[in-house]
Amino acid sequence: MLQALEWKGRTLRFLDQTRLPREEVYIETEDYRDVVEAIKTLRIRGAPLIGVAAAYGVCLGAFEALKSDDFFAFLREVDADLRATRPTAVNLFWALDRMQRIWLPGESEGDWEDIVERLVEEAKTIDRENALLSERIARFGAGLLEDGDRVLTHCNTGPLACGGWGTALGAILWAVHREGKRLVVYADETRPLLQGARLTAFELQKAGIPVTLICDNMAGFLMSQGVITKVIVGADRIAMNGDVANKIGTYTVAVLARHHGIPFYVAAPLSSVDPKARSGADIPIEERGAEEVLSFGGVRVAPQVAVRNPAFDVTPAELVTALVTEEGVVYPPFGEKLERLKEGRRP
Ligand code: MRU
Repeated sequence: MLQALEWKGRTLRFLDQTRLPREEVYIETEDYRDVVEAIKTLRIRGAPLIGVAAAYGVCLGAFEALKSDDFFAFLREVDADLRATRPTAVNLFWALDRMQRIWLPGESEGDWEDIVERLVEEAKTIDRENALLSERIARFGAGLLEDGDRVLTHCNTGPLACGGWGTALGAILWAVHREGKRLVVYADETRPLLQGARLTAFELQKAGIPVTLICDNMAGFLMSQGVITKVIVGADRIAMNGDVANKIGTYTVAVLARHHGIPFYVAAPLSSVDPKARSGADIPIEERGAEEVLSFGGVRVAPQVAVRNPAFDVTPAELVTALVTEEGVVYPPFGEKLERLKEGRRP
């Protein structure tokens, strides 16, 4: 499997995911601004990976802050720049909050070198934990998939999006590779940025798992023909009532799945559950530029007209059969169970 990112002493090395599957190009940087740019442009993407990258971005910024006049003013700027990259994946803010708990109280103490050291340790811990959690999610998710299932997934939720095994795609990888289940996998191409076509199809092929790629508007027909038996997707943010923000098109798939009586599973770490979002209405949805819709694979396919480009949508909890977290599978009603899990108690 390709490694999406790696911390090397004082450098972050990451795969430029915008160039996949054509080229496997790694970028190495000591400049936190490159991490900001990479998250904005989706060179680094996928909610859990964005969190890890942001944590390392703070480390790069902290090394630079050591050379500045005002260490903490510089760090505040780094933190603000990273927070402004993408609004929906809550893992970004979750990771930056964790990093902030290290440097913010330090403002009075002032041992800068020590703070930087602790920031690097915390980022590495977030990275390590992320990989370990993804293995648990993959294992629990695989338990929902049966030998012979024909599984549809949307967007990209594998190692490229999450590190480790991934979330929804991790469940598929675990079911096939570790449990020997025979699955037929369908991947939505995921317009406009084609994460399904470019990344999910690529990761599955690399893993030796046959995949059938479909355009986003084909899922309903395949379901009506009895071709799909289960759907499993990831999440960028889950509200406390179980509403799920995920890549645009997910809601459509969930409605179709309900209409056809097909289980619809969402796999994500608990860091994707936002204690501040009571429902999906509290989740900010990123609206991206028009060019992504006016073009296809970098080629202009439409005249210059008005465009809407919401990058995510919200699937109401009532359409979700179960959530798969690192603490196990959670069935509706979600509210109280998610609260207990966020507090570190059993659901
Ligand atoms: O815009 P992206 O590529 O960063 O979108 C994130 C995603 O890959 C998906 O929404 C995914 O299903 C959840 S993150 C593993």
